[in-house]
Order: sequence, then C-alpha cells, then structure tokens
Amino acid sequence: MNKKIKKIFLKTYGCQMNVFDSERIEESLIKHGISKADNEINSDLIILNTCHIREKAAEKVYSELGRYRKLKQKNPELKVGVIGCVAQAEGQEIIQRSEIVDMVLGPQVYHRLPEIIKKLEVNEKVVDTDFPIEDKFEKLNLNKNNIRKTTSFLTIQEGCDKFCTFCVVPYTRGAERSRSPKIIIKEANELVDSGVKEITLLGQNVNAYCYENEKNQNVNFTNLIKLLCRIDNLKRLRFVTSHPRDMNEDLIQLFGQEEKLMPYLHLPIQSGSNKILKKMNRGHTVEYYLDIISRLKKIRPEIAISGDFIVGFPGETEVDFQKTLDVCKIIKYSQAYSFKYSPRTGTPSFEMKDIPDDIKSNRLLKLQETISLYQQQFQQNLIGSVQEVLIEKIGKFEDQYVGRTPYMNPVVLNSKQNQIGKIIPVKINSTNGLSLSGEYVT
Ligand code: SAH
Ligand code: SF4
Ligand code: F3S
Repeated sequence: MNKKIKKIFLKTYGCQMNVFDSERIEESLIKHGISKADNEINSDLIILNTCHIREKAAEKVYSELGRYRKLKQKNPELKVGVIGCVAQAEGQEIIQRSEIVDMVLGPQVYHRLPEIIKKLEVNEKVVDTDFPIEDKFEKLNLNKNNIRKTTSFLTIQEGCDKFCTFCVVPYTRGAERSRSPKIIIKEANELVDSGVKEITLLGQNVNAYCYENEKNQNVNFTNLIKLLCRIDNLKRLRFVTSHPRDMNEDLIQLFGQEEKLMPYLHLPIQSGSNKILKKMNRGHTVEYYLDIISRLKKIRPEIAISGDFIVGFPGETEVDFQKTLDVCKIIKYSQAYSFKYSPRTGTPSFEMKDIPDDIKSNRLLKLQETISLYQQQFQQNLIGSVQEVLIEKIGKFEDQYVGRTPYMNPVVLNSKQNQIGKIIPVKINSTNGLSLSGEYVT
C-alpha cells in the first residue's frame, strides 16, 4: 500500500509572487484533503518554492535538499518537491543532481498539483515546466474562511518581456501575461469581504498590466486601479514592482486622484550611470527616471520612493558607481534594496567580464550606508507628526501592536484595545532606524 499524501510542508524563497503562489497552493489543497504540516518531520510532502534571481538564492535549494536526504533515509515514504523559478530554469537537471527529488514544477502549473500528487502517491516522479495558456489562479481558488488577514497580496500580472541583460525572470516566469480584470475584481471583493483592508497588487512588471476584454477593449493598469478603488471597504491599495518605462502620465496623475492609492512607489533604477543602464538593456536613462519622480512629487509631494540597485555590473567603474550614489542623494529613497551583481547562466550579461568580488562588496557597503542614511532621515522627518496607521498584527510584547504608515514604515505602539484591521491616528515619537514607535491619539 502506498502512503496517501495528507500533510505538506511548503517553504518559500524569493519575491512576493512566490509568497502569493505558496499561499494559494496551500489554500487550494485543503479541498483535496491536504493540510499544512507544522514542521518538516510531520509532513508527507516537502515542497521548496524557489528563487533563481541570484546564485546564492538558487544554491540554497541544494543545501536544503542535502538536509532532506537525511529525513528521507529515516522516512522513505517522504516525498520532496522543488517548484518555482529554480524548477523552471533547471527542470530535470534537479533530479539528476539530487535523486531525492520526486517532483519539479515550474511556476505556471500549480493548478495541476492535485493530479500530480496522485502520481507521487504511486511513486512516480514528475517534471512539469510547461507554460499552459490557462490562468493557474482560477483553479487555485481563494479559500475565504482561511484568510483572516488585514493586508493581502493579489497577483494581477506575471512574466516579463523586458529582458534586462542580467535577469532570469523572462526565462523563469515566461512572457508577460495579465489576468482578467473581472476575476481580479471578484478576488479583491472576496478578500475585502473576509476582512482585508489593504491589497498590494503584484506583478514582475505590474504597471505593464494590460488586458484585452471580450469587447476588444484594453483595460490598462490605470483603469484597473480605478475599478479597484471603487470597492467600498477596501481602504488602501499598493502595487509592486513597477518599471520606469511603464510609468505613463495617467498613472502618475492617479497618485493625485485616488486617495486609496498609498503615497509609496517602488520604482527600481538599478544604476545611476547611463552607460551601465544601456548595457543592462533597461530601456531608460537616468534623466528619464528623475523626471518621472519629479512629476510624481509635483502631484503628491510627500510620496515615498523605494528602489532596487545592482552594484558591480560588468564594466561599472568608480565613476559609474559614484553616479548611483548621486541618484540616491537626489531621490532620498525612503528605503531601497541593493545587490551585488550575480552572473546568471543563460542571460546575455553572463558573457560579459565579471568584476572582482571585493570591489563589488566595497561598493555594496558604501551604497547601503547611503541608503540607510536617507531611510533614517525619512523616518526622522515623521517624528512629531500624526500618521494614519493600519494595524496588521500583535507585537512582541503584551498590548503591543504593529502597523504601517501610508509610506510603508512599520510602526510599533501600545494599546489596551485590539486594534487589528483598524486605521488609527498615531503620533510618532521615535525611530530606531528600521521602525517607528508612537502612541494612539484619540
Ligand atoms: N521586475 C523588477 C525586478 C525583479 S527582480 C524590476 O524590473 O525592477 C528583483 C531585483 O533583483 C531587481 O530589481 C534587481 O535589482 C535584482 N536582480 C535581478 N537580477 C540580478 C542579478 N543577476 N544579480 C543581482 N541582482 C539582480
Ligand atoms: Fe528582470 Fe528587467 Fe524584467 Fe525586471 S524588467 S523582471 S529586472 S528583466
Ligand atoms: Fe526569484 Fe522568481 Fe521572484 S527568480 S525574485 S522568485 S520571480
């Protein structure tokens, strides 16, 4: 008799798209009698939802698989699956490199999991890295009873056609596809009906969203946001990640028109040097980027800007790097992510000459110091002000709650009443550089 798979342990790496996929997988398997295990040892199937963006992220998978080898020796019935972007990029190779793996699934086939699990139960190995045309999320339904959250992600677009020379996403997630606005609105309503107050729309290129409906009319990103803002009990709307090339005037104007659209924009530039941007195939210049931000600031002066940077891209000189620091000084990011360039097989920049790691490390350190300076400055500027804070969860200590300002800063405060799910006025008293603390003002 083969063992039925009843409990899964799902571990997620990478971006919010993976987090959202994992949540949907867990929710949708419930109706097939499969629930979440609280740890790896109690599970029948361990799934790693993986990220391929940098070498370090991808290699993590193999160190985890090394640990699972031992678990499998103790429990030969245990199944192990690798899904997500490493699965898409490496496919069958994963099983060749680590024979304990029973299942390899790319990001677009998760709706097939119930059938695939049946195959695993009869000891078949499964590799599926298709890009089917159907929308996986239509089958990976939301489970309303399971939500109980204040803030939620909602994927509206996947894939990328931009082909930055350093990036694996166009290969791991495939071509740009937008989901139907009807379904998005339905899912957003379901989230809101079950208590969600804030939705963050997700996409690798979220602002490239465009869907042609039955009447051959295009619903673009601005149209979609307007529709979503009409949902009564939805209080806040955000989106990540945007590409500068798709920041059109309508979208910029929207920040001055829709109150529910939070004054926060994650808009990666990657480098402050036009020479490097060109080699990266970003399709925009520094001047173009700065112009977007200055137009946005005219419309919504207090808007918080966040971004992503890569240091040490092939050919980057000290002068180029200095230009990246200059961009930070001009924009004064409220927060930003920065990475050392990691050459990825199969991408065009893999063929370019990599620069020494110690140079990259030095630049990363300098950039992070600069980013942190402006992040602290942004938080300092909020001290003494009263901010509308959406309370998301309880804090570490008794009567403590944690929420976020419209600008995304985490805020810690004390309250005797349960404030989760409410938007309350909070006077900001101090900052430790990462989060703010404040008090509820009635
Ligand atoms: N679609 C988003 C980014 C997705 S990947 C955009 O275009 O902005 C998230 C971030 O990882 C990127 O913004 C980039 O800063 C970083 N990244 C991507 N590939 C990388 C690589 N090969 N080495 C280092 N960082 C990388
Ligand atoms: Fe990658 Fe560039 Fe596409 Fe972003 S826009 S996902 S960095 S290829
Ligand atoms: Fe990583 Fe795939 Fe997201 S490569 S960053 S998990 S799209």
